This record gives sequence, C-alpha cells and structure tokens, in this order.
Amino acid sequence: MGNIAYYLKYRPQSLDDLIGQEVVKKTLLSSFQNNKLAHAYLFRGPRGTGKTSTARILAKMVNCELARDSFNIPCNKCPTCISMTDGSNLDLIEIDAASNRGIEDIRSLRDKIKLAPTSSKKKVYIIDEVHMLTMEAFNALLKTLEEPPEHALFILATTEVGKIPQTILSRVQRLDFKLAKPQEISEALRKIIKEEKIDIEEEALKILVKRADGSFRDGVKFLDQVSSERNKITAKSLEENLKPTQFEDLFLLIKNFSEKDAAKSLLSVSKQIDSGVEVKELMLSLMDILRSLVFIKNGLGGQLVEPQFTEDKYEEVVMLSANFSNQDLVKMLDILQKAMEKLKFALILSLPLELAVVEICGEQSSVISPDEFHSSRILENRDRQSSAKEASVREKLDVGSEKLDEEVRNSNLQHPISNDDILKLKEKWTFVLETVRSFNYSLEALLRSVNITECSEDAVIMEVPYSFHQRILEAPKNRDLLEGVFSDILGRTIRISVSLGNRPERREDIANIELAADDEIIRAAAEIFNSDTIN
Ligand SMILES: Nc1ncnc2c1ncn2[C@@H]1O[C@H](COP(=O)(O)OP(=O)(O)OP(=O)(O)O)[C@@H](O)[C@H]1O
Ligand SMILES: [Mg+2]
Ligand SMILES: [Zn+2]
Repeated sequence: MGNIAYYLKYRPQSLDDLIGQEVVKKTLLSSFQNNKLAHAYLFRGPRGTGKTSTARILAKMVNCELARDSFNIPCNKCPTCISMTDGSNLDLIEIDAASNRGIEDIRSLRDKIKLAPTSSKKKVYIIDEVHMLTMEAFNALLKTLEEPPEHALFILATTEVGKIPQTILSRVQRLDFKLAKPQEISEALRKIIKEEKIDIEEEALKILVKRADGSFRDGVKFLDQVSSERNKITAKSLEENLKPTQFEDLFLLIKNFSEKDAAKSLLSVSKQIDSGVEVKELMLSLMDILRSLVFIKNGLGGQLVEPQFTEDKYEEVVMLSANFSNQDLVKMLDILQKAMEKLKFALILSLPLELAVVEICGEQSSVISPDEFHSSRILENRDRQSSAKEASVREKLDVGSEKLDEEVRNSNLQHPISNDDILKLKEKWTFVLETVRSFNYSLEALLRSVNITECSEDAVIMEVPYSFHQRILEAPKNRDLLEGVFSDILGRTIRISVSLGNRPERREDIANIELAADDEIIRAAAEIFNSDTIN
C-alpha cells in the first residue's frame, strides 16, 4: 500500500473509526437500533470532517451481508463491503453535484432509481456538494424525495446548507458535522503516525494540528506531504515545507489592503491564481472574510462569525477587523461586488479582481495607514514636548499612572523623554513588524494600532486603543519578544509598559466591537497568545 495517499488509506471504515462527531454517530446508531432509518439524510458541515466517509459507512451499514448486532456494524469483509470500499459496487452511486448540476443529470438519476438494486438490499445515492444543483435540478430532486422508492437511500452532503431550498430541507433528516477539535485531529494523526512509523517531533505535530484548522482531511494531507521526508519531522523542517494555507494568504491580502499596499496585494493575488485558485473563488472567499469583518464590527461576531472558525482563527479575524472602519469594509465589498459582475465579460479573467485591488488600495482614503497614524502621533508628541516638555511628561504620567508600574515611572522621571529614540523606533517599525510577524502575525497586526508615547533610558511606553490589546501585549511571551526587539534597536536593555490611550477619532466606530467582544474572548485570546502562539 506504499503510495496510497493517507486520506484514502486512512478513511474511516466504520463509525468506530470516525473520531468526534458524537451526535452524528449516536443518531445513526439509534436509528438502526429503533429501525427508524430515514430515507434521505443531509450531511452538513465544514470541509474534511467526515461527511463522505460517513455516507459510505452508512451505505455499508444498510447493505453489509454480515452486519453485526442491532447497530448494523459493517463487517468490512464481505463482497458488498469490499466493493463499497473500493468503489466498484453498482448499488452505491456517488454523484458530484458540482459537475452534474443540471436537470438532465437529476432526471437520469430519477429514471435509474426505479430499478431495483443489483445485488444489495438498498441502492444508496450519495449526492456530494448538493448545494451546487440548479433550481430546476433541485425541483426534480424534490419530486424523487417526495416519493422515494422503498429500495433507495439518499445521502446529500454539503458544506453550504444555506444554499439548499427549504423544500428540500423539509424532506431530509439533517445531521450536522462539526469542525474537528485540535485533540481530535491529533488523535487521527497519531493513529497514522503509529501505523506508518513516522518520526515526528511533538512540537511539529502541534503545528500540523493547528494548520489543519478543524479539518481532519487537511491534517491528514499535511502529514502526508511532510512525511515523505526521510529525516525526523521537526517544527523547523515544517516551516520550510508547508505552504501557507488559503486562509493565511487571504488574511495577509486583506492586511495589505489596510496598508494600501497595491503592489503587495497584486503580487499576492497573482501568486494565489498561479497556485491554482480560481479567480471567482478567490473573490468569493475575500468577500466572505470581509463580510465576517462587517459582522464583527457591528457586534455580531460571537453570533455569526465565531461558530465558523476555530478559536485561533476567530481571534485573528477579530484583530484584523481593527484595521478597518465600517465604511472601509462597505467600500471594499462594494468594489469587489462590482468586479464580480464584470467577471462574466472579462477577457482577461484576473483583470477585474486586479483592478478592484488597485482601487481598494488607492482610493480608500479612510483606511488607517499605520505609518500615517504613527507619524501624526509622533509629531503631536514632539510639538507638545517642545512647547511644554515638563508639563507633558507629568500629564502623560498622570493619565496612565495606574497602568505604569513603579519602576518605569521612576525611570521616566529620572530620564527625560528621548524623542530621537521614538523616531528611531518609528524608522525601524517595519523591521519590528517583520520580526514579530515571523513569530506571530496576529501580534504584528495588533502592533499596527500601537502608539509609542515615551521612551526613556530603560523603558518604552506604548499606548493601545483597547484593553484587550493591552492584555495581549502584556502576555509574557509577547512582552519578551517585543522587549528583545526594542533592546536590539536601541542598543540597551528595554522594558515595555503598555497603557490604555485614547481611541483615535476616525476609528471611533471600532470601539463598538471591542466593547461588545465579551470578556471571555478577551481572556481566551490572552491565554492563547500567552501559551502557544509564540514558541
Ligand atoms: N471524523 C473523522 N475521523 C477521522 N478521520 C477523518 C474524519 N473525518 C475526516 N477524516 C479524514 O479526512 C479524510 C476526508 O474525509 P471526508 O472525505 O469524509 O470529509 P468530507 O466531510 O466529505 O469533506 P468535503 O466536505 O471536503 O467533501 C478521510 O479520508 C479521513 O482521512
Ligand atoms: Mg466529501
Ligand atoms: Zn460486510
């Protein structure tokens, strides 16, 4: 079995093999036990969480010649099971709705369905990506679902239940597949690691699990990719071998938008298209994330966005949202929407998106440019300092006094503010961001809303607009990292102190979300950053 891809070789073959998805398992087992199998199911859930695998297992459960006890546990040895596993069974019909979307496809299905099964008890139809069907095809399917032949079992699978007509939904039993939890993915990978005798560092396994981001399939795929190495798989070797995920690409692209960096944005688009992402898909995914940002900004993150993401990612998306105002998001979505309309008539497919990117980066006057933001604040500081240096020191210390620890305050009183150092840090800000990025790009995103207010002999005092920023920056690992970078730049040992500053006016509307973001999330964020994001 040397070269079979892991995700084929290790596809779960019975409900016992299926990790997690407890509700799904329980529901199916009890419907066998109570003899209440539905004639049509809808498996709904994110990519790579076991829908297709479970559909095939269910096909075996109804058809296995030697199924055990009242739960119909398939034997996986009889000719029926074997032919269902290897795809040669004529009574297991898998239709990919993405490539058979039309009414003709469903009509021919309806004609064939009348015929009795060839050798099994039931004909099982698995319709994958069912949300892709056209309206007419859905209507044709509905007729079949209304009067299904006794010998047929339908299993519809989709990642996007929202696109399925209500009429269909009311005819099927729905089973929800959940995003895989990190420890579940870890369990799945450990099985393979053991079986294949893969030599892998614990830390590297953690990275794979994190990368998989809730998808068993992705986890298995990554492990497959990296296990062709002959040497031990280490965290370091992973860094060199794993390409960024699509989410990371999109995340960085949107970050480039906030920096009005047209060149970087165009480059990122072109790279993604070169790597095989379709233009339309890319635009849709972009719009999807921007839409999430809109929800977050309007206080609906917890309700509408959080359930779609793993904890880590949600945190990243929340932070990303801090780079934009509501208005920015509306504008960007509007530009992309228009580009989408132009796509149909485009002679060069990527052109509408590229123009949109340029427009987004160019015209978005209200997008916060961190550099502008910083220089204006620094100028502000300088003015104030040159006119009434002493007063300014005292005033600032007063404002943030609760937040500053005693030592930092003392050192500030002893050593006057050094404007040069602030400027030095500002000049090196890109370097700071770059250094931090390689450890943790969420922290980098956050640093963009930081304002350095004071620099003394041994301390750098920073202001952030929100308390949750403050807590994240003060997490020991982040603090160490920043202190290290600042010390390098200034050539002496530096400690940081973070205080809560005013929210810049143009970002006023941002306040809503962070205030709305409940404390739980904030604490979770602080914990995540504290514990395992930076190694
Ligand atoms: N619950 C699970 N337990 C263990 N492994 C799983 C599980 N779900 C998925 N996998 C792994 O991921 C692979 C793909 O799973 P499957 O095709 O069933 O996912 P899916 O939900 O149909 O994904 P998609 O929506 O992309 O079609 C499996 O072959 C298996 O290796
Ligand atoms: Mg599938
Ligand atoms: Zn069997």
